[in-house]
Amino acid sequence: MKVIKNICCIGAGYVGGPTMTMIAAKCPHIEVNVVDINSERIAAWNDINVDNIPIYEPGLSELVAETRGRNLFFSTDVDKAIQAADMIFISVNTPTKTYGVGKGMAADLKYIELCARQIAAVATTDKIIVEKSTLPVRTAEALKRILDNTGNGVNYEILSNPEFLAEGTAVSDLLNPDRVLIGGEETESGRLAQQALVDVYANWVPKDRILTTNVWSSELSKLTANAFLAQRVSSINAISELCEVTEADVDEVARAIGADSRIGSKFLKASVGFGGSCFQKDILNLVYIAQSYGLHEVADYWEQVIIMNDHQKRRFAKKIVETLFNTVSGKKIVILGWAFKKDTNDTRESAAIYVVDYLLSEQAEIIIYDPKVSAERIFSDLEYLNTRTNKENRELVTVVENPMLAFADSHAAVVLTEWDEFKSYDWKQIYAAMLKPAFLFDGRMLLNHNQLVDIGFQTFTIGKGQ
Ligand code: UDX
Ligand code: ADP
Repeated sequence: MKVIKNICCIGAGYVGGPTMTMIAAKCPHIEVNVVDINSERIAAWNDINVDNIPIYEPGLSELVAETRGRNLFFSTDVDKAIQAADMIFISVNTPTKTYGVGKGMAADLKYIELCARQIAAVATTDKIIVEKSTLPVRTAEALKRILDNTGNGVNYEILSNPEFLAEGTAVSDLLNPDRVLIGGEETESGRLAQQALVDVYANWVPKDRILTTNVWSSELSKLTANAFLAQRVSSINAISELCEVTEADVDEVARAIGADSRIGSKFLKASVGFGGSCFQKDILNLVYIAQSYGLHEVADYWEQVIIMNDHQKRRFAKKIVETLFNTVSGKKIVILGWAFKKDTNDTRESAAIYVVDYLLSEQAEIIIYDPKVSAERIFSDLEYLNTRTNKENRELVTVVENPMLAFADSHAAVVLTEWDEFKSYDWKQIYAAMLKPAFLFDGRMLLNHNQLVDIGFQTFTIGKGQ
């Protein structure tokens, strides 16, 4: 039996940060060192004021306050943490490749490989390596080959422990997971390593929720879970378009079908399109893997989920232009929400980026407000698209900290993230400040539209006939 006393986590991002904080909170007997090459990020995790930690997640700063300096440490000294650890989690980013073979589809594994090489270079005692980042199937094999070929006598066991937490609810998902999945090799030492990680989670997760599988099943399950979830969103979004041209209401349809226990009620909320760091990346990965095995029908089947999502974002943006009398050039449009969902400051693949990019190409004047996303982040998201120069983006876009001052003389307000605070705004006052007719586009079915119509707004909501 192997008892874990020291854990190192490489990568202090949205996955590594919250997961390690929870392990530290629930396992006071384990020292947890979270390391990252990004010194600014580490400095933010170590900020005296826990409200300044780099990731916004409800309940996270309280947990960091409880554990940091006790058995949770953030540092840039990667080598030292690797050397001291019995178990190393790899939680670095695996973005979609932007170059070479598999460009735009395959996961870029360069950060993972760098980690493996660094571990191989500095480790002097046996280690259990845990893949936490979402990875294409069979990455564990590649990791093992890099590690085993160093020839310095250190033994490595590789486990796959995919992350299922959703941003915005990370703390409660980690505290009370539906399941924890641990894939390991089917050898004696593989089983011992798997058990060591089971024992870590068993400090707070009921044993019947800790599933063990082989490594490949575990890796593929992560991609499959995200593909199924995203598919539900694209399915209901496809129906939302049909609802808009008939007299059906997508909320009513979702309620009716979700009441069937075989379907279930979650992930049936029509929206302007799914975002986040996982869904698109993981499906593209699945598609790429299927293609590389020559399974073209399988690849096409899953790719359709992405095609539908791109269509949903574009048609929402188009709808805004059409409704504003076919031109938004020089018109002031207020965007409420930039994060890919509420309760997170993460903006990766957020639908807002694409909707705003479309409106900017139509020369709209855009004012953006998000309660948790910085102006710097917003401009770098737009810059990353490369549609126009950063200077042009900055001429057309203003990011504000007080949304109430933004509405004066605006033509339209557009809700792109379902932040709760938007519901409690004084919409009468907003209406008074706007030009008439005042348009409201709700990409999240968030607001009370009957009330808005009574105030005088012309409203458009995803999935509802006008
Ligand atoms: C997802 C998975 O849920 C999680 O298990 C995995 O570990 C990482 O990927 P996350 O991306 O954080 O988590 O958020 P999620 O809640 O799944 O939402 C993804 C996107 O789908 C968001 O843009 C959200 O707004 C959208 N969505 C979700 C809908 O549009 N409608 C829904 O009904 C649900
Ligand atoms: P995720 O959502 O998967 O957690 P993030 O991008 O938020 O992704 O976090 C990944 C983190 O991994 C980043 O902070 C990045 O600096 C860090 N990272 C990437 N490569 C390395 C490496 N070789 N060593 C240490 N940290 C790394």
